[in-house]
Amino acid sequence: MYKWLLSGLIVLTCVFGVYLLVSSLPPKAETRPELPEVTVPDKPVNVNAADQIYKQNCLSCHGDQLQGSIGPQLSNVGGKLSKEEIYKRIQKGGGGMPPFDGRLTEDEIINITNWLADKK
Ligand code: HEC
Repeated sequence: MYKWLLSGLIVLTCVFGVYLLVSSLPPKAETRPELPEVTVPDKPVNVNAADQIYKQNCLSCHGDQLQGSIGPQLSNVGGKLSKEEIYKRIQKGGGGMPPFDGRLTEDEIINITNWLADKK
């Protein structure tokens, strides 16, 4: 009887030990590759320039009223995505959208990002 109690106790101690070990392991690192963090500076929007860039580069996929066609509607994108998400999307493209990194200057991307971020 005493032997059983003792071995039961040992098993319990082991289980508890393993539990402590597992719970103290560091959490698994995030596996999804993240783009480097960006902060988009708040600059006054040059509406004319943004409009111009939009017409030349984006209208064909997002529509003349931002209503969307091949690409999603952008007329309320500022309420859906953060400025940083908009910026990264324009810079890196993806999901059927071409990247504009290199095709537009940094300032142009920031300008059109701030312009779109106001569309809520
Ligand atoms: C060749 C077509 C095409 C062009 C040109 C294009 N886009 Fe897109 N865009 C897309 C597609 C398709 C998506 C959706 C991608 C997805 O679902 O992941 C998208 C997504 C986006 C999104 C995210 C919208 C959301 O609701 O998730 C933003 C912001 C955006 N585009 C901005 C722009 C801007 C600004 C330009 C011009 C500089 C531009 N796009 C040019 C096709 C295009």
